[in-house]
Amino acid sequence: MRITQTTLQKMVENNEKFTVLTCYDATFATILENAGIDVLLVGDSLGNVLHGENTTLSVTLNDMIYHTRCVAHGSRKAFIITDMPFGSYQVSPEQAFENASKILAAGAHMVKIEGGQIMADTIQFLTQRGIPVCAHIGLTPQSIHQLGGYKLQGNSEKSAKQLLNDAKLLEKSGASLLVMEVVPAKLAKKITQALSIPTIGIGAGANCAAQVLVLHDMLGLIQGKKPRFVKDFMADAKSIQEAIANYVTAVKTGQFPGKEHEF
Ligand code: KIV
Repeated sequence: MRITQTTLQKMVENNEKFTVLTCYDATFATILENAGIDVLLVGDSLGNVLHGENTTLSVTLNDMIYHTRCVAHGSRKAFIITDMPFGSYQVSPEQAFENASKILAAGAHMVKIEGGQIMADTIQFLTQRGIPVCAHIGLTPQSIHQLGGYKLQGNSEKSAKQLLNDAKLLEKSGASLLVMEVVPAKLAKKITQALSIPTIGIGAGANCAAQVLVLHDMLGLIQGKKPRFVKDFMADAKSIQEAIANYVTAVKTGQFPGKEHEF
């Protein structure tokens, strides 16, 4: 049976963590969900790991539609979330609806949108019209030039307060899930406790309702320096399937992320 938003919400209510990995094709969709991954995120990180770009800014709507279709073809069980790429939703709620509907038509069950309070109206517009939304705050890679690099967010009193307020507003606007990327673990815990929707952490400590990593990162395929929050699950595994299964167990039992992965 297909995992839905309701399944995820119930898992959280039963104190069971759910697992998320990025996925960009049919073969990995099947492998990941057979190993127990609950949510496949068709991330615009495909700009980095598939296209070899330094940022996600050049990823197009057609790229996301194509890879969503690939993932959907290989998936029978997982919940599928697809990133809306840069420039496909920021102009207006109407623009966001037009493009999000194409992503859902390609097989996604939810779209993910980066940004805080500025995205509240758009999230309300989409969710009131039948498009489920996952919000994404903290390190939002599509704003990389504004943020000045891939670095910790919410580490001052003022910015932490802003992120907490953003999270509350996005939930109120209709977001069903919230990704928090590279924020202090203490803040992520506070935000998780303040919301009734599940939070998904990446570099946000162990107290989120779920964890996500970029597939290529957790398979040890990173070229260059490994970020603090990434664990190479291939290091102790004999196969990709075993590495994914170990990630599932580590997240569900609270062993990953450890203190060494948090800020
Ligand atoms: O694009 C992506 O892979 C993401 C995750 C890092 C959360 O948004």
